Amino acid sequence: MRIDIVSAVPELLKSPLQESIVRRAQEKGLAEIHVHNLRDYAHDKHKTIDDTPYGGGSGMILKPEPIFECVEALKAQRMYDEVVFMSPEGERLDQKLANELSLKQNLVILCGHYKGVDERVREAIVTREISIGDYVLTGGELAAAVLVDAVVRLIPGVLNASESALSDSFQDGLLGYPEYTRPAEFRGMKVPDELLSGDHERIGQWREEQRLRRTKERRTDLLESQREQE
Ligand code: ADE
Repeated sequence: MRIDIVSAVPELLKSPLQESIVRRAQEKGLAEIHVHNLRDYAHDKHKTIDDTPYGGGSGMILKPEPIFECVEALKAQRMYDEVVFMSPEGERLDQKLANELSLKQNLVILCGHYKGVDERVREAIVTREISIGDYVLTGGELAAAVLVDAVVRLIPGVLNASESALSDSFQDGLLGYPEYTRPAEFRGMKVPDELLSGDHERIGQWREEQRLRRTKERRTDLLESQREQE
C-alpha cells in the first residue's frame, strides 16, 4: 500500500511514522509512506499557503491552489482509491473502517485545520472525510498518524502470527481479555488459575468469558450494535 500525506506541518508526522510496527511495515516493503510539504507547492517567495476567510471571521484558511497542485501531481503518477481529508466533521474512525482501508492500494491523506480549508478542496478532490473522535485538534496531522497506524498494522503480512490482529480488541466487536506475564504472583496478586492450567480449551473458554464480561461492563453499546446486525 502507498500512502501520500499532504501537510502544512510535516514535522509533526515524523516520529509516529518512523517507529515500531509502521516502520517495520515500510522496511518490509508492505507500506510506502510519503509526506508532502504543502509549502513546496506555494508560488510566492514567502511560501504562503493560507489566507484570511472571505466574509470575515477568525483564523486562517488553507488556500486551494497548493493543495490542488500537490494532489494533481500525485494523481498524474498513479490512481488513488481515496483522497481522505482528516476532519472532526468526517465519519468516525473505527476498526471496521480501518479494515476496509487496509485493503486499498493507494491513499492520499490531507491534513487541514479545523474549519480551515477552502471548501472547494472538499468539494472537488476529497472523496472521504474521516474523524478520529468528537474533539478538535490543532491540525489533521496527529489524526492522520492515528489513521495510518490503525490501517498499516492490518495490511496482510505486517504483523507476525504472535501479534495477529485477529485477537485485537474490536476486531470482532468485543474488547480484549486480561493478559498476564511472569511472575505468577506479584505483591499478593495472583494470575488466574485457568491461565496456569496448561489446558488450552479451559484457557480459551476463560478468555471468551472475560471478553464478554469486560465488554458488558465497559461498552454495552458494542454488544447492542452487534445484536442489531444479527
Ligand atoms: N482535525 C482536527 N480535529 C480532528 C479530529 N478530531 N479528527 C480528524 N481530524 C481532525
